[in-house]
Formats: sequence, C-alpha cells, structure tokens
Amino acid sequence: MRIYKATDYKDMSRIAANIIASQVVLKPDCVLGLATGSTPIGTYENLVAKYESGDLDFSAVRTVNLDEYKSLPRENDQSYYYFMHDHLFDHVNVKPENTYLPDGTKEDAAKECEKYEELIASLGGQDLQLLGLGHNGHIGFNEPAEDFAKGTHCVDLQESTIEANKRFFASADDVPKQAYTMGIGTIMQAKKILIVVSGEDKAETVAKAFFGPITPNVPASVLQLHPDVILVADEAALSKIPQ
Ligand code: GLP
Repeated sequence: MRIYKATDYKDMSRIAANIIASQVVLKPDCVLGLATGSTPIGTYENLVAKYESGDLDFSAVRTVNLDEYKSLPRENDQSYYYFMHDHLFDHVNVKPENTYLPDGTKEDAAKECEKYEELIASLGGQDLQLLGLGHNGHIGFNEPAEDFAKGTHCVDLQESTIEANKRFFASADDVPKQAYTMGIGTIMQAKKILIVVSGEDKAETVAKAFFGPITPNVPASVLQLHPDVILVADEAALSKIPQ
C-alpha cells in the first residue's frame, strides 16, 4: 500500500483527483468505480475543474458506483444517483448511458444485485475504484460482519451508520434502513484502489484498518490484501498510525 500524506482536506482532494485524472489520461475508456459520502466531494470538484480547463475528457469513461440506498427514488436529493449527478456527472462530458449505479427502486434485491454484478463483469471490472471510509471501517456499505461479503448484495444498515448519515436527512427515521452495495469481492477485483480519508474522527479507524488485523469486523482491513492500494489521507486522519 502506498500512503500519500496530505496536509488537509483540500490537499487530499487535489492529490486524489490527480490520481484519477492520470488514470483517465492513460486509459480514456477506463472503468472508474466511484464513491459517495462527504469525503470525495472535493475530489470531484477538482475533477470538474480539470474538465473545465480542458485537461480531462470523460467522453469514453464508464463509471460504476459502489452503492445506493434501497427504496429511495432517484430524484430524491439524498439518493446516490442524485449525488453523483449533482457533484460530477452533470458537470463533465461523461455520457449518461455510461454511468451506472445499483437501482435502489428495484424491490427484488437478489435480481438487482445479480444484474449489477454481471454489468460490472461485462465492463471488464474497475480499473480504479475510489473509496471512502466509514467510521466503523465500512467500505461501500459493507458493514462490520462475521464474514466478508463477496458480491453485490442488500445490507441492513447499522444503527451507527444511520446515525452518521442522518445529518443529510430530515431525521434518523428518514434514513433508509437498507442499501445495495458492491461486495468486498466486487471491490477487491478492481485493478487499483484509491481510498480517501480526512479528519481526526477517522484516525482510529485508519490505524485499525491498515495496521491492525485483517478482519470482517473492520471491513476496510481486507484492503491490506490488495496488491495496488493508494491511501490518500490528511495529517489528522493519519495521526494514530504507527510511526
Ligand atoms: C457512506 C457511504 C460510504 C462512505 C461513508 C463515509 O455510508 N456508503 O461509501 O465512504 O459513508 O462517508 P463520509 O465520507 O461522509 O464520512
């Protein structure tokens, strides 16, 4: 694993965007695995700026998102579909038909998850997968569990995740209780993984995930087994890793 130590959130976002931009320049029709949450917002802002300055062309890029809330209509401003359009897709020249997310409005979870897994395989898998890190060590919506889940599946969100995400909803009751997420296997098949982390509140989780034992109780710890992981984190998030 390579670690890039950023000074702060802004610096983290700039470095992460440079890595994604390099991927797009080197392989213009690459498959980018994308993430939501507050952490990658600055990264997307930097990518939009690179597109606007003429340095980046998304016209052949395909994207697959990690996850989506179950039962939330796409037009709901808290759906990840909405988020991706709001922060990236509507501001660059990616073709809408080349952007994919699990469809949370499809009630048949097994069918939708299987379809999503097949779709990713048909695209040839992710060249680069961007990830954020949940406070409990989750990646995508793979919550701490007894086992590492392999493929795209439906998850019951943990109380702590609902708590953490309620800031985006009117109340905790409005946060969907389930989501469709790529599995750990789906994430691990990416050729390259880029994980972005910011803030002291994640420092403990960063130390556990990347320097502690590999366990499904800390889902991100599985990344220690991937041959090409880049962690871009600010000083605060790296403040508890062993020196
Ligand atoms: C959500 C998303 C994750 C994200 C995590 C952390 O639950 N499903 O993909 O990484 O939260 O979010 P944040 O970056 O806002 O801390």
